[in-house]
Amino acid sequence: MAGAKYPWKVAWITGASGAICGEIARRLAAAGVTIAATARPGGKLDQLAAGGEGIKAYPADVLRPDELKATVAKIESALGPIDLALLGAGMYAPFDIRNIDLDGFHRSMALNVDGVINAVAAALPSMLARKSGHIAIMGSLFGYAGWPENGSYGASKAAVINLAESLKLELEGTGVAVTIINPGFVDTPLNAAYDPKKKLYVMSKERCARKILEKLGGKPYEIAFPTQVELFLKTVRSLPRALSFPLIRWFARMMQG
Ligand SMILES: NC(=O)c1ccc[n+]([C@@H]2O[C@H](COP(=O)([O-])OP(=O)(O)OC[C@H]3O[C@@H](n4cnc5c(N)ncnc54)[C@H](OP(=O)(O)O)[C@@H]3O)[C@@H](O)[C@H]2O)c1
Repeated sequence: MAGAKYPWKVAWITGASGAICGEIARRLAAAGVTIAATARPGGKLDQLAAGGEGIKAYPADVLRPDELKATVAKIESALGPIDLALLGAGMYAPFDIRNIDLDGFHRSMALNVDGVINAVAAALPSMLARKSGHIAIMGSLFGYAGWPENGSYGASKAAVINLAESLKLELEGTGVAVTIINPGFVDTPLNAAYDPKKKLYVMSKERCARKILEKLGGKPYEIAFPTQVELFLKTVRSLPRALSFPLIRWFARMMQG
């Protein structure tokens, strides 16, 4: 039976052992949606599956396309077609222009970008064949505009925002919906290395999951919050560079205190 509150019977969630997507998995499962939870094998994923009725663990590494294809085939043969693919596996790497952490940059781009397209490539064929499905990608407000000290994470999230736009345009008329989800700071282990003084409008994972699920069932193209940060970044982004760069510099300095 489809969850009464939501239009999906089966949701595949990558990054399900993490803070935000774990919270979403638990909330959806409690509402009757069957969850296929993916993260790398280990304790965190097992804990999630053990703690939630309707959550089944399908361990896989999103950096391995063939493993993801096999995982999707396993899920669909055991649970039925994937109605929602929520792609949330991600990481943050600090970025210091004077000492660039190339490994961190490459790992972020791989996980935050390749990990997303690998999962899309695995889930999309059966959605297209059924003319039905929903792909939701976890981006970030940081993908809207370049920000000092955020070269790794921001670049990777800008890439998935652009990717989601392409998918949205190409999938129109196929029955497959696309949503990009761009939250601001959430209090999770992901951004523990980010200077706490520079984190604005931090929300809990519970609030973040609630705000996503309030809208996701309506399959909008974009979910972004907090609104004031979303509007600031979108406005700044659309200004001529002669105005946008000083504004961002001023704002970033103000945050340093
Ligand atoms: N926290 C924030 O402030 C914030 C804000 C906006 C957007 N987001 C985005 O929201 C998503 C979730 O963030 P979060 O804060 O909840 O992160 P998190 O708690 O650190 O979770 C990250 C998830 O990614 C999984 N993962 C890492 N490498 C993987 C791999 N190779 N294959 C499969 N899974 C892998 C982790 O699982 P294992 O380690 O168990 O494999 C974990 O489930 C990310 O895309 C993030 O960029 C976060």
